Amino acid sequence: MRKPFICGNWKMNTRGQCGAELAKAVADGIPAGSQVEVGVCPPTCYLGAVGPAIKGTAVGLGAQNMLAEADGAFTGEINPAMLNDLGCQYVILGHSERRQFFGETSEGVSKKTQAALAAGLVPIVCVGETLEEREGNQTEAVVAQQIEGSLAGISAEQLPTVVIAYEPVWAIGTGKVATPEQAEAVHAHIRKLLTDKFGGEAAEKVRIQYGGSVKPGNAAELLGQPNIDGALVGGASLKAEDFLGIIAAA
Ligand code: G3P
Repeated sequence: MRKPFICGNWKMNTRGQCGAELAKAVADGIPAGSQVEVGVCPPTCYLGAVGPAIKGTAVGLGAQNMLAEADGAFTGEINPAMLNDLGCQYVILGHSERRQFFGETSEGVSKKTQAALAAGLVPIVCVGETLEEREGNQTEAVVAQQIEGSLAGISAEQLPTVVIAYEPVWAIGTGKVATPEQAEAVHAHIRKLLTDKFGGEAAEKVRIQYGGSVKPGNAAELLGQPNIDGALVGGASLKAEDFLGIIAAA
């Protein structure tokens, strides 16, 4: 059985104090004995403010990006060792906003994924098609390319630690959620790709999150699909009540 994993991607929102309060409210709202894994990914500059607020709770800390490189001359950047130092467990990699606005490629994501694993971080590797690609019947091919490229250099032994987030770009922040059937079809496709590449035993252990306008009202149906093992939540992770509603649905 794969443990459901609900993670909040706060993107470029919050401030230090309200972020710490939000994370604490989430931690306080998780029922004792909950079987759901929960994480929050604040902006990098607030990892140090949010981390202490959730230390020792059921909520883990994650970052939204990093470089693969060791310490050195990379102005404005952060690396896995720094995320370890800040108490991070997770790092989101290859989010479509980074692919779209910052030119990230699957090749670069694979370097970061390897570096995250080497540092003991859980990489949340994002894939997903644009509306144009979906309408051109390219969804499966695009996702296959992104999976293949982003997981290059990863071994079958390492694979179960990796989390995949399927985020159709057309559903991100638009209120247009993929139907449970549309999402499940792509998740099953991803599982098949992982099975072909790494073998069934490793592929069955991988959590595949859905992301794109997940709300308390649509979470249960999405998370009820056999290959949907959690959610990567943007907008609805910024309100403790909404995020807790999604956790409850899982
Ligand atoms: O990474 C989460 C994400 O891109 C989905 O955002 O606001 O549609 O939940 P949102």
